[in-house]
Amino acid sequence: MTHTAVPSKRRGAASGREIAEARIESFSHDGRGVARIGGKATFIEGALPGETVRFRYLSRHKNYDSARLVEVVTPSPDRVTPPCPHFGTCGGCSLQYMTPAAQLAAKQQVLTEQLERLGKVKPETWLAPLGGPAWGYRRRARLSVRLVPSKGGVLVGFREKRKSFIANLDSCAVLTPQVSALLPSLRKLITSLSCPDRIPQVEVAVSDNETALVFRHLVPLTENDRAQLRAFAEQYDLQVRLQAHGPESIESLSPENPAPLYYRLPEFDVSIQFRPTDFIQVNAELNAAMVHQALALLELKPNDRVLDLFSGLGNFTLPLARRAAQVLGIEADAELIEGARANAARNGLNNVEFRAGNLYDEAGPVPWAGYTFIKLLLDPPRSGAIEAIKRLAEPLPERIVYVSCYPATLARDAEYLVRVLGYRLVAAGAMDMFPHTSHVESMALFVRP
Ligand SMILES: C[S@@+](CC[C@H](N)C(=O)[O-])C[C@H]1O[C@@H](n2cnc3c(N)ncnc32)[C@H](O)[C@@H]1O
Repeated sequence: MTHTAVPSKRRGAASGREIAEARIESFSHDGRGVARIGGKATFIEGALPGETVRFRYLSRHKNYDSARLVEVVTPSPDRVTPPCPHFGTCGGCSLQYMTPAAQLAAKQQVLTEQLERLGKVKPETWLAPLGGPAWGYRRRARLSVRLVPSKGGVLVGFREKRKSFIANLDSCAVLTPQVSALLPSLRKLITSLSCPDRIPQVEVAVSDNETALVFRHLVPLTENDRAQLRAFAEQYDLQVRLQAHGPESIESLSPENPAPLYYRLPEFDVSIQFRPTDFIQVNAELNAAMVHQALALLELKPNDRVLDLFSGLGNFTLPLARRAAQVLGIEADAELIEGARANAARNGLNNVEFRAGNLYDEAGPVPWAGYTFIKLLLDPPRSGAIEAIKRLAEPLPERIVYVSCYPATLARDAEYLVRVLGYRLVAAGAMDMFPHTSHVESMALFVRP
């Protein structure tokens, strides 16, 4: 179906001010509505599939145009009023104008489209999209801080949309409620320090037992600064840590000997300790559901030997070790490897091994050399896992579960697994790890015929 754009105000395409009207057909991988105008795709920020909208062109290209919503002429039933007062300014969550259910459906559609278009593959079945809490889900965040006297002083928040400005937040509906409620006091605290212009960020980590804040400071803090930060930690029952240089410089300020941070995966009787700056999956409830689904799809048997690539602190490795005979986790970050080994020991698991290795290396011995395995779990960063996949050799694993945070690389890797290695893409489905953002996490199951 094609639609005709009706220009209502012509000031010339080059000026980027032209306004037109069109019906939205689909959703792009980065969360924009897509209209086809004269056969050419126009990506319209803020527009939803099924809607007729008026929009303003932002830029014109040979194969596509970009535009921004001006007015919704016929709204979609999936449209809601964004509940957050910072919507539109803060770059944190741009899809708040859709119901959470519609966001998840749109993410499933993005996954379908990317698998088909980029990977030329289609799963035999679709997994029901995996959703979790839509609000208050972020247990890890990096808050930016900046002193801007012309905007009233210290700003604490996330970056503004497409700008390097900081959107000052009085509250944030995706951070945990305790951290959200803290934002105004945090701003006051930083304002009262001797160097508010030398505190570029505060990292937030919420564990099952504690909340920790890590203040990055570019100049030494005074005794008075330290006293204020201690008082803040005590008043709000938080851990405050200080970071003068790289992550290795982090020191505990208050309490001096803080309780270790951990999260639990009760289904597997596993507890995972982490440092406040370590990678952990952001959404606790969704993570538990994701680990459950990954292990169910692997159909683990007590004699199985499993390989877990990009294993981090053991989020999948340790649950796998509870259900399988032996697991090998491979990860590049030596400190995460150390943490993962300690986690295995604390959980009394001795059927698990961790090796440090660069999984993007294309030469040299494979990091899993000498280890035989029948099942494989992959959880790579956005760049995907093609280098590791290309190094798989006979006997190939019977089942592969691929957890992806970027559908384009999943699609590319799926094509190789299916066309070159002969796997069936048995199932795939989206997961809403980051509601209200356009991030698409997904899981796919590959089985050897
Ligand atoms: C999406 S995280 C997954 C971590 C873990 N599976 C979890 O669920 O918490 C990806 C992991 O890949 C690791 N990584 C990044 N580049 C790597 C590389 N070249 N080789 C091996 N691991 C790498 C990161 O350190 C990170 O721990």
